[in-house]
Amino acid sequence: MTAPSKKLSSARLTQPTNAFVEEFTASVQFDQRLFRQDIAGSIAHATMLASVDILSDQERDQIINGLKTILTEIEEGNFEWSIAQEDVHMNIEARLIALIGEVGKKLHTGRSRNDQVATDVRLYLRDMVTPIASELKRLQMALLDVAEREAETILPGFTHLQTAQPVTFGHHMMAWYEMLVRDAERLTDCGKRINSLPLGAAALAGTTFAIDRKMTAELLGFERICQNSLDAVSDRDFVIEFNSFASLLMMHLSRFSEELIIWSSAQFDFVDLGDAFCTGSSIMPQKKNPDVPELIRGKTSRVYGNLFNLLTLMKNQPLAYNKDNQEDKEPLFDTIDTLLGSLRVYADMMAAITVKADNMRQAALRGYATATDLADYLVRKGVAFRDAHEVVGLAVAFGIEHNKDLSELSLEELQNFSAQISADVFDVLTLEGSVAARDHLGGTAPKQVKLAVARARQSLS
Ligand code: ARG
Repeated sequence: MTAPSKKLSSARLTQPTNAFVEEFTASVQFDQRLFRQDIAGSIAHATMLASVDILSDQERDQIINGLKTILTEIEEGNFEWSIAQEDVHMNIEARLIALIGEVGKKLHTGRSRNDQVATDVRLYLRDMVTPIASELKRLQMALLDVAEREAETILPGFTHLQTAQPVTFGHHMMAWYEMLVRDAERLTDCGKRINSLPLGAAALAGTTFAIDRKMTAELLGFERICQNSLDAVSDRDFVIEFNSFASLLMMHLSRFSEELIIWSSAQFDFVDLGDAFCTGSSIMPQKKNPDVPELIRGKTSRVYGNLFNLLTLMKNQPLAYNKDNQEDKEPLFDTIDTLLGSLRVYADMMAAITVKADNMRQAALRGYATATDLADYLVRKGVAFRDAHEVVGLAVAFGIEHNKDLSELSLEELQNFSAQISADVFDVLTLEGSVAARDHLGGTAPKQVKLAVARARQSLS
Protein backbone atom coordinates (compact mmCIF):
# COMPACT_ATOMS: atom_id res chain seq x y z
CA MET A 1 0.00 0.00 0.00
CA THR A 2 1.28 3.44 -0.86
CA ALA A 3 1.16 6.75 0.98
CA PRO A 4 -2.04 8.78 0.93
CA SER A 5 -2.73 10.86 -2.18
CA LYS A 6 -5.54 13.38 -2.56
CA LYS A 7 -8.86 11.88 -1.52
CA LEU A 8 -11.90 11.85 -3.78
CA SER A 9 -14.48 12.15 -1.05
CA SER A 10 -13.21 14.50 1.63
CA ALA A 11 -13.85 18.15 0.67
CA ARG A 12 -16.46 18.58 3.36
CA LEU A 13 -14.07 17.46 6.07
CA THR A 14 -11.63 20.09 7.28
CA GLN A 15 -9.43 17.82 9.38
CA PRO A 16 -7.45 14.93 7.87
CA THR A 17 -8.58 11.41 8.76
CA ASN A 18 -6.80 9.90 11.72
CA ALA A 19 -4.17 7.61 10.23
CA PHE A 20 -5.45 4.53 11.99
CA VAL A 21 -9.08 5.36 11.21
CA GLU A 22 -8.10 5.56 7.58
CA GLU A 23 -6.69 2.06 7.76
CA PHE A 24 -9.52 0.81 9.95
CA THR A 25 -12.26 1.98 7.62
CA ALA A 26 -10.56 0.98 4.37
CA SER A 27 -11.60 -2.10 2.46
CA VAL A 28 -9.16 -2.05 -0.44
CA GLN A 29 -7.03 -4.70 1.27
CA PHE A 30 -9.76 -7.24 0.50
CA ASP A 31 -12.17 -5.67 -2.00
CA GLN A 32 -9.45 -5.21 -4.66
CA ARG A 33 -10.55 -8.69 -5.66
CA LEU A 34 -13.53 -6.98 -7.31
CA PHE A 35 -11.42 -5.00 -9.80
CA ARG A 36 -12.63 -6.78 -12.93
CA GLN A 37 -16.26 -6.36 -11.99
CA ASP A 38 -15.72 -2.75 -10.94
CA ILE A 39 -14.14 -1.92 -14.29
CA ALA A 40 -16.81 -3.82 -16.25
CA GLY A 41 -19.53 -1.96 -14.30
CA SER A 42 -17.88 1.40 -15.01
CA ILE A 43 -17.50 0.65 -18.71
CA ALA A 44 -21.19 -0.22 -18.92
CA HIS A 45 -22.13 2.87 -16.92
CA ALA A 46 -20.07 5.17 -19.18
CA THR A 47 -21.53 3.54 -22.30
CA MET A 48 -25.02 4.10 -20.98
CA LEU A 49 -24.26 7.73 -20.00
CA ALA A 50 -23.09 8.44 -23.55
CA SER A 51 -26.15 6.81 -25.07
CA VAL A 52 -28.39 9.23 -23.16
CA ASP A 53 -26.09 12.19 -24.01
CA ILE A 54 -24.79 12.74 -20.50
CA LEU A 55 -21.30 12.04 -21.84
CA SER A 56 -20.09 12.78 -25.36
CA ASP A 57 -18.90 9.82 -27.41
CA GLN A 58 -15.38 11.14 -27.16
CA GLU A 59 -15.57 11.39 -23.37
CA ARG A 60 -16.94 7.88 -23.23
CA ASP A 61 -14.09 6.54 -25.33
CA GLN A 62 -11.47 8.29 -23.23
CA ILE A 63 -13.00 6.88 -20.06
CA ILE A 64 -13.28 3.37 -21.47
CA ASN A 65 -9.72 3.39 -22.79
CA GLY A 66 -8.49 4.63 -19.43
CA LEU A 67 -10.37 1.87 -17.64
CA LYS A 68 -8.91 -0.73 -19.99
CA THR A 69 -5.43 0.57 -19.30
CA ILE A 70 -6.09 0.25 -15.57
CA LEU A 71 -7.32 -3.31 -16.06
CA THR A 72 -4.05 -4.20 -17.75
CA GLU A 73 -2.05 -2.43 -15.04
CA ILE A 74 -3.80 -4.42 -12.33
CA GLU A 75 -3.54 -7.72 -14.19
CA GLU A 76 0.16 -7.17 -14.75
CA GLY A 77 0.78 -6.19 -11.15
CA ASN A 78 1.64 -2.58 -12.03
CA PHE A 79 -1.13 -0.92 -10.08
CA GLU A 80 -0.47 0.77 -6.76
CA TRP A 81 -3.34 0.21 -4.37
CA SER A 82 -3.66 2.94 -1.79
CA ILE A 83 -5.31 2.75 1.61
CA ALA A 84 -5.96 6.49 1.41
CA GLN A 85 -8.36 5.82 -1.47
CA GLU A 86 -10.25 3.49 0.82
CA ASP A 87 -11.67 0.91 -1.53
CA VAL A 88 -11.39 -0.69 -4.94
CA HIS A 89 -13.87 1.78 -6.43
CA MET A 90 -12.04 4.93 -5.42
CA ASN A 91 -8.63 3.48 -6.18
CA ILE A 92 -9.68 2.84 -9.74
CA GLU A 93 -11.47 6.15 -10.11
CA ALA A 94 -8.50 8.09 -8.73
CA ARG A 95 -6.19 6.29 -11.12
CA LEU A 96 -8.56 7.04 -14.01
CA ILE A 97 -8.44 10.74 -13.22
CA ALA A 98 -4.67 10.60 -12.94
CA LEU A 99 -4.49 8.87 -16.33
CA ILE A 100 -7.00 10.81 -18.43
CA GLY A 101 -7.46 14.04 -16.48
CA GLU A 102 -10.65 16.08 -16.01
CA VAL A 103 -12.91 13.87 -18.09
CA GLY A 104 -12.29 11.03 -15.65
CA LYS A 105 -14.21 13.01 -13.05
CA LYS A 106 -17.40 12.64 -15.09
CA LEU A 107 -17.62 8.85 -14.73
CA HIS A 108 -19.33 8.97 -11.36
CA THR A 109 -22.28 11.01 -12.74
CA GLY A 110 -25.61 9.49 -11.72
CA ARG A 111 -23.91 6.83 -9.65
CA SER A 112 -22.83 6.27 -6.06
CA ARG A 113 -20.44 3.83 -4.49
CA ASN A 114 -23.51 2.37 -2.85
CA ASP A 115 -25.04 1.08 -6.07
CA GLN A 116 -21.56 0.50 -7.47
CA VAL A 117 -20.47 -1.87 -4.72
CA ALA A 118 -23.77 -3.75 -4.76
CA THR A 119 -23.31 -4.21 -8.52
CA ASP A 120 -19.72 -5.35 -8.16
CA VAL A 121 -20.56 -7.95 -5.53
CA ARG A 122 -23.43 -9.29 -7.63
CA LEU A 123 -21.22 -9.50 -10.72
CA TYR A 124 -18.45 -11.21 -8.78
CA LEU A 125 -20.75 -13.75 -7.22
CA ARG A 126 -22.41 -14.39 -10.56
CA ASP A 127 -18.98 -15.03 -12.08
CA MET A 128 -18.26 -17.57 -9.35
CA VAL A 129 -21.45 -19.58 -9.90
CA THR A 130 -20.04 -21.20 -13.05
CA PRO A 131 -16.75 -22.50 -11.62
CA ILE A 132 -18.54 -23.70 -8.49
CA ALA A 133 -21.17 -25.48 -10.57
CA SER A 134 -18.51 -27.15 -12.67
CA GLU A 135 -16.48 -28.38 -9.69
CA LEU A 136 -19.71 -29.69 -8.19
CA LYS A 137 -20.47 -31.49 -11.43
CA ARG A 138 -16.99 -32.99 -11.50
CA LEU A 139 -17.60 -34.43 -8.03
CA GLN A 140 -20.99 -35.76 -9.13
CA MET A 141 -19.36 -37.48 -12.11
CA ALA A 142 -16.72 -39.03 -9.87
CA LEU A 143 -19.48 -40.40 -7.62
CA LEU A 144 -21.31 -41.85 -10.61
CA ASP A 145 -18.15 -43.64 -11.74
CA VAL A 146 -17.68 -45.20 -8.30
CA ALA A 147 -21.39 -46.08 -8.08
CA GLU A 148 -21.33 -47.81 -11.42
CA ARG A 149 -18.12 -49.69 -10.69
CA GLU A 150 -19.39 -50.80 -7.28
CA ALA A 151 -23.03 -51.44 -8.16
CA GLU A 152 -22.74 -55.05 -6.94
CA THR A 153 -20.42 -54.46 -3.98
CA ILE A 154 -22.16 -55.19 -0.71
CA LEU A 155 -21.59 -53.52 2.63
CA PRO A 156 -23.65 -53.32 5.79
CA GLY A 157 -26.12 -50.45 5.72
CA PHE A 158 -26.41 -48.74 9.08
CA THR A 159 -28.99 -47.13 11.25
CA HIS A 160 -27.76 -45.80 14.61
CA LEU A 161 -24.34 -46.85 13.24
CA GLN A 162 -25.41 -50.43 13.95
CA THR A 163 -25.61 -52.99 11.17
CA ALA A 164 -29.12 -52.77 9.73
CA GLN A 165 -29.50 -54.32 6.28
CA PRO A 166 -27.08 -55.04 3.45
CA VAL A 167 -26.84 -52.34 0.82
CA THR A 168 -24.78 -51.95 -2.31
CA PHE A 169 -21.90 -49.52 -2.28
CA GLY A 170 -23.19 -48.04 -5.52
CA HIS A 171 -26.51 -47.32 -3.86
CA HIS A 172 -24.72 -45.70 -0.96
CA MET A 173 -22.77 -43.44 -3.35
CA MET A 174 -25.97 -42.52 -5.14
CA ALA A 175 -27.43 -41.28 -1.87
CA TRP A 176 -24.64 -38.69 -1.70
CA TYR A 177 -25.12 -37.99 -5.37
CA GLU A 178 -28.81 -37.16 -4.83
CA MET A 179 -27.93 -34.67 -2.11
CA LEU A 180 -25.52 -32.96 -4.48
CA VAL A 181 -28.24 -32.76 -7.14
CA ARG A 182 -30.31 -30.67 -4.75
CA ASP A 183 -27.27 -28.54 -3.93
CA ALA A 184 -26.73 -27.87 -7.62
CA GLU A 185 -30.39 -26.89 -7.98
CA ARG A 186 -30.09 -24.51 -5.07
CA LEU A 187 -27.04 -22.90 -6.65
CA THR A 188 -28.84 -22.37 -9.95
CA ASP A 189 -31.84 -21.01 -8.15
CA CYS A 190 -29.94 -18.51 -6.05
CA GLY A 191 -28.01 -17.54 -9.20
CA LYS A 192 -31.27 -16.11 -10.57
CA ARG A 193 -31.68 -13.75 -7.65
CA ILE A 194 -28.02 -12.71 -7.74
CA ASN A 195 -28.45 -11.66 -11.36
CA SER A 196 -30.25 -8.36 -10.81
CA LEU A 197 -28.86 -4.86 -11.49
CA PRO A 198 -28.55 -2.33 -8.64
CA LEU A 199 -26.89 0.45 -10.71
CA GLY A 200 -29.20 3.41 -11.10
CA ALA A 201 -30.21 3.30 -7.45
CA ALA A 202 -27.33 5.74 -6.86
CA ALA A 203 -26.85 6.58 -3.17
CA LEU A 204 -30.32 5.46 -2.11
CA ALA A 205 -33.11 7.34 -3.90
CA GLY A 206 -32.22 7.08 -7.57
CA THR A 207 -30.74 9.88 -9.65
CA THR A 208 -31.95 13.11 -11.23
CA PHE A 209 -30.33 12.15 -14.54
CA ALA A 210 -32.33 10.49 -17.29
CA ILE A 211 -30.41 7.22 -17.15
CA ASP A 212 -31.25 4.04 -19.01
CA ARG A 213 -31.09 1.19 -16.52
CA LYS A 214 -32.33 -1.30 -19.04
CA MET A 215 -29.33 -0.62 -21.21
CA THR A 216 -26.88 -0.97 -18.32
CA ALA A 217 -28.52 -4.25 -17.38
CA GLU A 218 -28.19 -5.55 -20.93
CA LEU A 219 -24.57 -4.48 -21.20
CA LEU A 220 -23.72 -6.32 -17.99
CA GLY A 221 -25.85 -9.35 -18.75
CA PHE A 222 -28.22 -8.85 -15.82
CA GLU A 223 -31.52 -10.62 -16.31
CA ARG A 224 -33.40 -8.34 -13.98
CA ILE A 225 -33.22 -4.80 -12.64
CA CYS A 226 -33.57 -4.13 -8.90
CA GLN A 227 -36.98 -2.53 -8.67
CA ASN A 228 -36.48 -0.32 -5.64
CA SER A 229 -33.46 1.91 -5.10
CA LEU A 230 -33.44 1.59 -1.30
CA ASP A 231 -33.57 -2.19 -1.53
CA ALA A 232 -30.97 -2.27 -4.32
CA VAL A 233 -28.25 -0.55 -2.30
CA SER A 234 -28.95 -2.02 1.09
CA ASP A 235 -29.94 -5.66 1.10
CA ARG A 236 -27.41 -8.45 0.94
CA ASP A 237 -29.88 -11.31 1.03
CA PHE A 238 -28.36 -12.74 -2.15
CA VAL A 239 -25.03 -13.08 -0.35
CA ILE A 240 -26.75 -14.81 2.56
CA GLU A 241 -28.68 -17.07 0.22
CA PHE A 242 -25.47 -18.08 -1.51
CA ASN A 243 -23.86 -18.77 1.84
CA SER A 244 -26.89 -20.85 2.84
CA PHE A 245 -26.47 -22.94 -0.28
CA ALA A 246 -22.76 -23.25 0.54
CA SER A 247 -23.52 -24.27 4.14
CA LEU A 248 -25.86 -27.04 3.02
CA LEU A 249 -23.36 -28.30 0.50
CA MET A 250 -20.56 -28.26 3.08
CA MET A 251 -22.87 -30.04 5.52
CA HIS A 252 -23.28 -32.82 2.97
CA LEU A 253 -19.55 -33.01 2.31
CA SER A 254 -18.91 -33.05 6.04
CA ARG A 255 -21.29 -35.94 6.68
CA PHE A 256 -19.78 -37.81 3.78
CA SER A 257 -16.30 -37.06 5.16
CA GLU A 258 -17.32 -38.51 8.49
CA GLU A 259 -18.06 -41.80 6.74
CA LEU A 260 -14.80 -41.77 4.83
CA ILE A 261 -12.92 -41.18 8.07
CA ILE A 262 -14.70 -44.06 9.82
CA TRP A 263 -14.37 -46.32 6.80
CA SER A 264 -10.65 -45.74 6.49
CA SER A 265 -9.98 -46.66 10.12
CA ALA A 266 -8.29 -50.00 10.83
CA GLN A 267 -11.48 -51.15 12.61
CA PHE A 268 -13.65 -50.73 9.52
CA ASP A 269 -11.08 -50.83 6.73
CA PHE A 270 -13.71 -50.42 4.00
CA VAL A 271 -11.85 -47.95 1.78
CA ASP A 272 -8.39 -46.73 0.91
CA LEU A 273 -8.25 -43.00 0.26
CA GLY A 274 -5.01 -43.06 -1.65
CA ASP A 275 -1.71 -41.75 -0.36
CA ALA A 276 -2.08 -38.50 -2.28
CA PHE A 277 -5.00 -37.53 -0.05
CA CYS A 278 -3.55 -38.55 3.31
CA THR A 279 -0.57 -37.61 5.42
CA GLY A 280 1.63 -39.43 7.89
CA SER A 281 2.31 -38.63 11.50
CA SER A 282 5.50 -36.94 12.69
CA ILE A 283 5.81 -39.44 15.53
CA MET A 284 3.80 -42.59 14.75
CA PRO A 285 5.40 -44.27 11.74
CA GLN A 286 2.40 -46.50 11.01
CA LYS A 287 -0.09 -43.64 10.53
CA LYS A 288 -1.95 -42.73 7.37
CA ASN A 289 -4.36 -39.99 8.34
CA PRO A 290 -7.46 -39.06 6.32
CA ASP A 291 -6.57 -35.37 6.42
CA VAL A 292 -8.66 -34.27 3.47
CA PRO A 293 -12.03 -35.43 4.77
CA GLU A 294 -11.10 -34.31 8.28
CA LEU A 295 -10.22 -30.85 7.03
CA ILE A 296 -13.41 -30.58 5.01
CA ARG A 297 -15.38 -31.51 8.12
CA GLY A 298 -13.46 -28.75 9.89
CA LYS A 299 -13.89 -26.19 7.12
CA THR A 300 -17.64 -26.70 7.20
CA SER A 301 -17.67 -24.79 10.45
CA ARG A 302 -15.99 -21.80 8.78
CA VAL A 303 -18.73 -21.67 6.18
CA TYR A 304 -21.44 -21.94 8.86
CA GLY A 305 -19.61 -19.16 10.75
CA ASN A 306 -19.69 -16.98 7.65
CA LEU A 307 -23.41 -17.59 7.28
CA PHE A 308 -24.07 -16.56 10.83
CA ASN A 309 -21.75 -13.60 10.43
CA LEU A 310 -23.75 -12.35 7.41
CA LEU A 311 -27.14 -12.93 8.96
CA THR A 312 -26.08 -11.03 12.05
CA LEU A 313 -24.52 -8.28 9.93
CA MET A 314 -27.88 -7.53 8.33
CA LYS A 315 -30.31 -7.90 11.18
CA ASN A 316 -29.93 -4.42 12.70
CA GLN A 317 -29.52 -2.30 9.62
CA PRO A 318 -32.14 0.33 8.90
CA LEU A 319 -32.55 1.36 5.26
CA ALA A 320 -30.58 2.09 3.26
CA TYR A 321 -26.81 1.58 2.86
CA ASN A 322 -24.74 1.49 6.03
CA LYS A 323 -21.00 1.08 6.31
CA ASP A 324 -21.66 -2.21 8.08
CA ASN A 325 -22.19 -3.65 4.62
CA GLN A 326 -18.51 -3.40 3.89
CA GLU A 327 -18.18 -6.39 6.24
CA ASP A 328 -20.03 -8.64 3.80
CA LYS A 329 -16.99 -9.23 1.61
CA GLU A 330 -14.55 -11.18 3.72
CA PRO A 331 -17.05 -13.86 4.78
CA LEU A 332 -18.33 -14.11 1.23
CA PHE A 333 -14.86 -14.46 -0.27
CA ASP A 334 -13.86 -16.94 2.40
CA THR A 335 -16.93 -19.06 1.69
CA ILE A 336 -16.26 -19.02 -2.05
CA ASP A 337 -12.61 -20.01 -1.59
CA THR A 338 -13.42 -22.71 0.94
CA LEU A 339 -16.18 -24.16 -1.18
CA LEU A 340 -14.18 -24.20 -4.40
CA GLY A 341 -11.19 -25.80 -2.70
CA SER A 342 -13.33 -28.40 -0.94
CA LEU A 343 -15.16 -29.41 -4.11
CA ARG A 344 -11.98 -29.59 -6.10
CA VAL A 345 -10.16 -31.84 -3.67
CA TYR A 346 -13.25 -33.99 -3.11
CA ALA A 347 -13.71 -34.69 -6.81
CA ASP A 348 -10.06 -35.73 -7.11
CA MET A 349 -10.21 -37.82 -3.95
CA MET A 350 -13.33 -39.71 -5.05
CA ALA A 351 -11.74 -40.43 -8.42
CA ALA A 352 -8.83 -42.09 -6.58
CA ILE A 353 -10.73 -44.03 -3.89
CA THR A 354 -10.25 -47.79 -3.60
CA VAL A 355 -13.08 -49.89 -2.23
CA LYS A 356 -12.25 -52.95 -0.14
CA ALA A 357 -15.13 -55.17 -1.17
CA ASP A 358 -14.02 -58.23 0.82
CA ASN A 359 -13.86 -56.35 4.09
CA MET A 360 -17.26 -54.84 3.48
CA ARG A 361 -18.69 -58.23 2.68
CA GLN A 362 -17.25 -59.77 5.84
CA ALA A 363 -18.72 -56.94 7.88
CA ALA A 364 -22.11 -57.42 6.27
CA LEU A 365 -22.00 -61.11 7.15
CA ARG A 366 -21.62 -60.21 10.81
CA GLY A 367 -24.43 -58.39 12.53
CA TYR A 368 -27.45 -60.34 11.20
CA ALA A 369 -28.01 -57.94 8.33
CA THR A 370 -30.52 -60.27 6.66
CA ALA A 371 -32.84 -60.56 9.67
CA THR A 372 -35.47 -58.36 8.00
CA ASP A 373 -35.29 -60.57 4.93
CA LEU A 374 -36.14 -63.58 7.07
CA ALA A 375 -39.08 -61.73 8.61
CA ASP A 376 -40.33 -60.70 5.16
CA TYR A 377 -39.95 -64.35 4.05
CA LEU A 378 -42.18 -65.50 6.91
CA VAL A 379 -44.75 -62.83 6.03
CA ARG A 380 -44.88 -64.19 2.49
CA LYS A 381 -45.54 -67.63 4.06
CA GLY A 382 -48.57 -66.23 5.86
CA VAL A 383 -47.10 -65.19 9.23
CA ALA A 384 -48.20 -61.74 10.51
CA PHE A 385 -45.29 -59.25 10.46
CA ARG A 386 -45.24 -58.70 14.24
CA ASP A 387 -45.08 -62.46 14.85
CA ALA A 388 -42.40 -62.86 12.19
CA HIS A 389 -40.42 -60.07 13.87
CA GLU A 390 -40.47 -61.97 17.14
CA VAL A 391 -39.54 -65.31 15.57
CA VAL A 392 -36.54 -63.76 13.86
CA GLY A 393 -35.51 -62.02 17.07
CA LEU A 394 -35.37 -65.40 18.78
CA ALA A 395 -33.43 -66.90 15.88
CA VAL A 396 -30.90 -64.03 16.05
CA ALA A 397 -30.50 -64.55 19.81
CA PHE A 398 -29.82 -68.23 19.12
CA GLY A 399 -27.28 -67.28 16.44
CA ILE A 400 -25.49 -64.89 18.80
CA GLU A 401 -25.34 -67.60 21.45
CA HIS A 402 -23.82 -70.09 19.00
CA ASN A 403 -21.75 -67.52 17.13
CA LYS A 404 -23.42 -68.20 13.79
CA ASP A 405 -24.95 -65.93 11.15
CA LEU A 406 -28.57 -66.69 10.17
CA SER A 407 -27.36 -68.16 6.88
CA GLU A 408 -25.09 -70.52 8.84
CA LEU A 409 -27.92 -72.07 10.87
CA SER A 410 -29.17 -75.44 9.64
CA LEU A 411 -32.66 -75.83 8.26
CA GLU A 412 -33.61 -77.86 11.35
CA GLU A 413 -32.31 -75.18 13.66
CA LEU A 414 -34.30 -72.53 11.79
CA GLN A 415 -37.42 -74.67 11.77
CA ASN A 416 -37.33 -74.77 15.56
CA PHE A 417 -38.40 -71.14 15.42
CA SER A 418 -41.11 -71.52 12.80
CA ALA A 419 -42.66 -74.44 11.01
CA GLN A 420 -43.22 -72.16 7.99
CA ILE A 421 -39.52 -72.18 7.16
CA SER A 422 -38.41 -74.47 4.32
CA ALA A 423 -35.26 -74.98 2.25
CA ASP A 424 -35.90 -71.95 0.02
CA VAL A 425 -35.15 -69.75 3.05
CA PHE A 426 -31.47 -69.76 2.16
CA ASP A 427 -32.20 -67.76 -1.01
CA VAL A 428 -33.19 -64.78 1.09
CA LEU A 429 -30.55 -65.20 3.76
CA THR A 430 -27.65 -64.50 1.40
CA LEU A 431 -26.40 -60.95 1.02
CA GLU A 432 -26.85 -61.08 -2.75
CA GLY A 433 -30.43 -62.31 -2.39
CA SER A 434 -31.15 -59.59 0.14
CA VAL A 435 -29.99 -56.67 -2.02
CA ALA A 436 -31.33 -58.09 -5.29
CA ALA A 437 -34.80 -58.39 -3.73
CA ARG A 438 -35.05 -54.62 -3.17
CA ASP A 439 -35.70 -54.15 -6.82
CA HIS A 440 -37.79 -51.04 -7.24
CA LEU A 441 -37.18 -47.38 -7.95
CA GLY A 442 -34.98 -46.09 -5.13
CA GLY A 443 -34.07 -49.58 -3.88
CA THR A 444 -30.57 -50.95 -3.34
CA ALA A 445 -30.63 -53.77 -5.95
CA PRO A 446 -27.60 -53.62 -8.29
CA LYS A 447 -30.00 -53.43 -11.21
CA GLN A 448 -31.60 -50.32 -9.74
CA VAL A 449 -28.22 -48.75 -9.03
CA LYS A 450 -27.24 -49.14 -12.67
CA LEU A 451 -30.53 -47.61 -13.78
CA ALA A 452 -30.06 -44.73 -11.34
CA VAL A 453 -26.55 -44.09 -12.66
CA ALA A 454 -27.84 -44.11 -16.24
CA ARG A 455 -30.60 -41.63 -15.37
CA ALA A 456 -28.10 -39.41 -13.59
CA ARG A 457 -25.66 -39.42 -16.50
CA GLN A 458 -28.50 -38.43 -18.78
CA SER A 459 -29.55 -35.48 -16.66
CA LEU A 460 -25.98 -34.30 -16.00
CA SER A 461 -25.05 -34.14 -19.68
N1 ARG B 1 -16.24 0.06 0.55
C1 ARG B 1 -17.66 0.24 0.64
C2 ARG B 1 -18.32 -1.15 0.83
O1 ARG B 1 -17.65 -2.11 0.67
C3 ARG B 1 -18.16 0.86 -0.60
C4 ARG B 1 -19.39 1.71 -0.43
C5 ARG B 1 -19.12 2.84 0.46
N2 ARG B 1 -20.14 3.83 0.40
C6 ARG B 1 -20.11 4.85 1.23
N3 ARG B 1 -21.02 5.71 1.10
N4 ARG B 1 -19.22 4.95 2.16
O2 ARG B 1 -19.48 -1.27 1.14
